[in-house]
Amino acid sequence: MSRYDRGKLSIIACNSGRKLAGRIAKHIREIYKNENHSKMDANFPIISSEEMVFSNGEVKTVINEHIRGDDVYIIQCIDDPLSERTVNDNLMALLSAVDAAYQSDAENITVILPQYPYSRQERRKAREGITAKLVAEFLEIAGAKRVLTLDIHADAIGGFFSSAKLENFHASGEIIKYYKQNYEKEGDFVVVAPDVGSAERARYYAKIFKHEMAVIDKARNYAKMSAIESMKLIGEVKDSNVFVVDDMIATGGTILNACRLLKDEGAKDIYLACTFPFLNGNAVSKFENAYKEGLIKRVIGTDAVYRGEEFILEHEWYEEVSISELFAHVIYRINHKLSLSAILDSDDPVSNIS
Ligand code: R5P
Repeated sequence: MSRYDRGKLSIIACNSGRKLAGRIAKHIREIYKNENHSKMDANFPIISSEEMVFSNGEVKTVINEHIRGDDVYIIQCIDDPLSERTVNDNLMALLSAVDAAYQSDAENITVILPQYPYSRQERRKAREGITAKLVAEFLEIAGAKRVLTLDIHADAIGGFFSSAKLENFHASGEIIKYYKQNYEKEGDFVVVAPDVGSAERARYYAKIFKHEMAVIDKARNYAKMSAIESMKLIGEVKDSNVFVVDDMIATGGTILNACRLLKDEGAKDIYLACTFPFLNGNAVSKFENAYKEGLIKRVIGTDAVYRGEEFILEHEWYEEVSISELFAHVIYRINHKLSLSAILDSDDPVSNIS
């Protein structure tokens, strides 16, 4: 088998995806080293590129190296708490990078987009657009052949692509491994879904941990900016520790209201885990207060939303699990035309294949 089965593996990092790209690239170098591949330069496989912003806010990506015929992976983190760039800025920056790679004659363009933007707009509830579908169309028009994402909010989004393929991976393997290493000694717990949309995820965690699960029935009022109208617990948490799992924490409204309900229902210690710790608005101070008042023990997030070392050191309640090794294996396997089932179907994908 030739080393570059699908063309040379090259990574392009958009500015907000640069930290994650660095971590992924480090793991790819390790995989190559373990495979006894010969020397590679220190920056392999990251391609030099620049993202320029004009005075009116327009963005342009320039690729500084030749990538003709390469198997290119473009990495972007759409919600970047460490910069002033908005979700829309970063979506446009990504599209400009994909187009730059297309114009540079890359053979295959794969987008690594852990946070799929507009994923909560995947169906019509009133006179509104299905913006998640528009995002799929934009990515295809720009030249993406494949989009790799993480814990996508709605599986239906896979069907919005007509020429490109969407592959959805899960952070649960990494989160479960982390929880087992660090907190399993705290004893049994009930896995809780903070809304019905998270029930399948909670069932998966409960199955792996071999613990009970409970679900919160959350109703939103769409006429009032989706405000939470009511929450009811289905299941038992009295005198048990609980582990609440969600795909994202935005304002924290869902999960903190869930925690209050769980405490009222007699829960002991509450651990939270989510793939996307967006923590928008004043969510950080809400969690700080919730921690100080003893409502929550820990929030485990992933670096799919890169918050940086300083944030982790400053906030005792926040812990980070990296999804970079998972994506490194995915990229390596796609580039070498190897099966992805071991990663897609496993509760511990990285250990399963490394
Ligand atoms: C809802 O369907 C999602 O899974 C999250 O629970 C929700 O979007 C989180 O938003 P917030 O933190 O603002 O309640």
